[in-house]
Amino acid sequence: MLVFALASCGRGNSQASSSQKQQKQTQESPQKSALAAVEESLDKAEIPSSDLTVIKQRIEASPDRFFDLLTKVEARAKEDPYLLKRVDKKKSLPQDYEPGDLVLLDKTGLSVSRPGHRLRKPAYEALVLMSEAARKEGISLLVSSAYRSYAYQVEVFARNVKEMGQKEAERVSAHPGASQHQLGTAIDFGSITDAFAQTKASAWLVKNAATYGFSLSYPKGMEPITGYVWESWHYRYIGTDATALQDEYFLGVQCYLIQFLDARLS
Ligand code: DAL
Ligand code: ZN
Repeated sequence: MLVFALASCGRGNSQASSSQKQQKQTQESPQKSALAAVEESLDKAEIPSSDLTVIKQRIEASPDRFFDLLTKVEARAKEDPYLLKRVDKKKSLPQDYEPGDLVLLDKTGLSVSRPGHRLRKPAYEALVLMSEAARKEGISLLVSSAYRSYAYQVEVFARNVKEMGQKEAERVSAHPGASQHQLGTAIDFGSITDAFAQTKASAWLVKNAATYGFSLSYPKGMEPITGYVWESWHYRYIGTDATALQDEYFLGVQCYLIQFLDARLS
């Protein structure tokens, strides 16, 4: 077990008076127990041990910033439980889950592949800001897929199975209930092919999406971890405190952060 530095500080101060020691102990114990709880949840998340070690080292190096971000992220998760919800091959959404604040993207000035795309309000508002910033640099962020209902994902997955067979379909497409698109906060940009990675829009997103609270869900080379092949086009809105926490402490890997939060909240 890795011992967080702050959890063990206060030792070796033989000069301190007993009242000083007592005062120090009462000051330190909340952070000590908070760190122990963090470590317990980190160990429950399915993070490979080499990455887990780095994550713990980062927390150990700057715990105050970590707890500041975590407090904000957990407050947001409490008021909006689906924003940071774990949705993947192991944890699915109920068939009848449909967000209550979907916004139609038609006639909003956003760039869309077809009429009818919808997003949850917080993701929509962040996308408007992000698209305006991109547009100022001459870049258009084309929304090609957004909210997908459970019933629609049934069709999408079945079509993929028909076209490429079950095994390949599982690598690129979520079963109904297991798609982040059902949350209404995931967006597929551009061509939805690997060619997207070569575009200016992709390069702009790689550099700037986190500033607007968007995170790449299925990074390159992470299929053993995420369960899906690299999708350069698929971003999920998680909020700016969560992208900061993800990038500063969780090695930029969305599923590490989401699994950690899931372990803490459940
Ligand atoms: N392509 C992603 C994994 C989905 O179907 O949600
Ligand atoms: Zn997608």
